[in-house]
Amino acid sequence: MKKKILITRKLLRANEERAAKLWDVKLNLNDEVYSQKKLIELTQGFDGILSSLTDKIDEKVINSLPSSVKIISNFAVGFGNIDHEAAKKRNIAVTNTPDVLTDATAEIAMLLILGACRRANEGINYARNENWKWSADFLIGKQLTGSRLGILGMGRIGRALAKLAKSFGMEIHYRNRSRLSPKLEMGAKYHKDIKSLFSVSDVLSICCPATKETKDIINKETLEYFPSGAIITNVARGDMIDDEAMVQALISRKIYAIGLDVYKGEPKIHQGYLNQPTAFILPHLGSATKKTRTAMADLAISNIDEFFRIGKCRNRIN
Ligand code: GLV
Repeated sequence: MKKKILITRKLLRANEERAAKLWDVKLNLNDEVYSQKKLIELTQGFDGILSSLTDKIDEKVINSLPSSVKIISNFAVGFGNIDHEAAKKRNIAVTNTPDVLTDATAEIAMLLILGACRRANEGINYARNENWKWSADFLIGKQLTGSRLGILGMGRIGRALAKLAKSFGMEIHYRNRSRLSPKLEMGAKYHKDIKSLFSVSDVLSICCPATKETKDIINKETLEYFPSGAIITNVARGDMIDDEAMVQALISRKIYAIGLDVYKGEPKIHQGYLNQPTAFILPHLGSATKKTRTAMADLAISNIDEFFRIGKCRNRIN
């Protein structure tokens, strides 16, 4: 008998076709974001869930899932939307999609750095309103060449970003749970603590996972560690920034500009960022290329397939 799999959000067509060949699938043709209540109702009689980062699968949801559900395969590398420890207690496997989105996300991290440093938001507004004229001091921004990039979280995405940023002439510094081997470090300077990293970051890129330890890691106190006029960018998760403190730092010009792709409570965006011309903001586009989204869904499908065929799965995280 074919396994029954609930796919919570719409995928690209080729991916949905593959899933439909493998299993008895329930697709979400209207791409509605299911409430927790609806998600629980829809899983009755299902063997697995292919979830997305918009599904908040917390302990309460996990404990309300029917016992038929054996796997939650998240269509994302991040898995902060799933209480994987609660899932483990119920023997439900949780998987993610590492590797395949590394380059696409590092590209967006670079775009955030460029956009924030070179005042892209203000430039776009002037150009669209046709109310500008060229002059020697018009929209002077910060040049990347020779500046120091701090990378918080030197996993796959952080390392891919380091390579790109080096080609722009930036000097790379990083903080990670553990120091990388010289081969992976590729000349980047390791910092034992965030104070040391932030104090040398002309530009910071947040690339670390959202955990209890990293929640609000950018806050009123830690913002003081940065050089005056630093730039902060975030391609990971909104949970890492205390938005109120960040907006105040932008207003006081302690922080020159910010580049964001992710937000606490997305799709909502803190009004303070919307009001700030120095905020270069994107709507969570990190992995949004056809090549990458196709590869991610393909991997999320393969994770379920592997799990049911051989009883384990390479990308299991719990
Ligand atoms: C995107 O944000 C992801 O975690 O894959």
